[in-house]
Amino acid sequence: MSGFSARTDFPRTWNPLARALAERRDRGLPLLDLTETNPTRVGLPSPELALLAHPGALGYAPEPQGLLSAREAVAAYLASRGAHVSPAHLVLSASTSESYGWLFKLLCEPGDNVLVPAPSYPLFEYLTRLEGVETRTYRLPRAHGFGLDVEAVAAARDARTRAVLVVNPGNPTGHYLREGELDALGRLCAEVGLALISDEVFSDFAWDEEPGRVPTVAGRELPMLTFSLSGLSKVAGLPGFKLGWTHVGGPDALRDEALARLELVADTYLSVNTPVQLALPGLLSHAPRFQEALLTRVTENRRLLRQARPSDAHWDVVPAQGGWSSVLRIPLEPGEEATCLALLDEGVVVQPGYFYDFTRGAFLVLSLLPPPDVFTAALEPLVRVLATSG
Ligand SMILES: Cc1ncc(COP(=O)(O)O)c(C=O)c1O
Repeated sequence: MSGFSARTDFPRTWNPLARALAERRDRGLPLLDLTETNPTRVGLPSPELALLAHPGALGYAPEPQGLLSAREAVAAYLASRGAHVSPAHLVLSASTSESYGWLFKLLCEPGDNVLVPAPSYPLFEYLTRLEGVETRTYRLPRAHGFGLDVEAVAAARDARTRAVLVVNPGNPTGHYLREGELDALGRLCAEVGLALISDEVFSDFAWDEEPGRVPTVAGRELPMLTFSLSGLSKVAGLPGFKLGWTHVGGPDALRDEALARLELVADTYLSVNTPVQLALPGLLSHAPRFQEALLTRVTENRRLLRQARPSDAHWDVVPAQGGWSSVLRIPLEPGEEATCLALLDEGVVVQPGYFYDFTRGAFLVLSLLPPPDVFTAALEPLVRVLATSG
């Protein structure tokens, strides 16, 4: 079609699952939705709305990196996680997704590429393509618990690669980056001149403790340009408040040049609204209450899921250490889509692994956020349908 950019030429056809789901909804049939990851819809604590009514909220002080008071609040939040950073090295944006767009503008010429993990969060294909940037995939080996394999990262790179994206912990695989992996990644990035973009939106949601995990790359002495991304969307369960942040780290000269250029990018948009910036200290002090309730929910649903699995089942709950989801490995026959459609017939909605680019095997992805009554009600049909596979 003429007149439109190839960057926006995304496929818009519905897959059979989306069609079947829409049909069920049209018929008004009940649904137990195990794809619900919207934290505002599952009965978790929310902050006081009055926080937004700050006396300065009607004012406008264009600050490209974000209001200093808001950046100080992010620095204090990171310090409470053991990462000591300067507010001068933080850049606020309207979301993590927007931060990605700014980083691709900062680092890549059109046609350059970034390395993205697979399986992973499906938005990268869109975020890159909209900036004229390509992706090259590095696989997270199942044998390694879907953790980082630095050799796979090195092998995926070519002459036009500018950055490596790491999702820590992985979504939906829930594997944290480890000290040894970060060391090896640092050596590779420094040697060949790659930046590291570390997506840490789920970092606060660890299900257990274990030495050697890297919760954030912010505040660490690393030999390469490093961007650590997070935001209110996951940290405080407030995706609608539209506030994300990027910490810029690495060798001083590179870091300062990156910050100066990012300031210009941010100044072009000035996209973060004033009320949410002024409310940020209060919103971040609400975050622990939200996170505690979410972790209780997620751990309980995961316990129920494991308990529901018959000991001789032909499916497994994939081991993970954190996040909001669980991955099931299911038999190859009848496979992901047929299993999802059979579950939908029973009123249960789950995602097939191919949405997240799982390969070599068949997988389902379940959100652990639904209220326990919804989750429990979905388990009986789930176990029954899975018993007929394999
Ligand atoms: C790994 C990951 N990164 C980033 C985002 C987007 O977050 P934001 O709402 O800040 O754009 C998501 C949302 O689901 C995500 O799963």
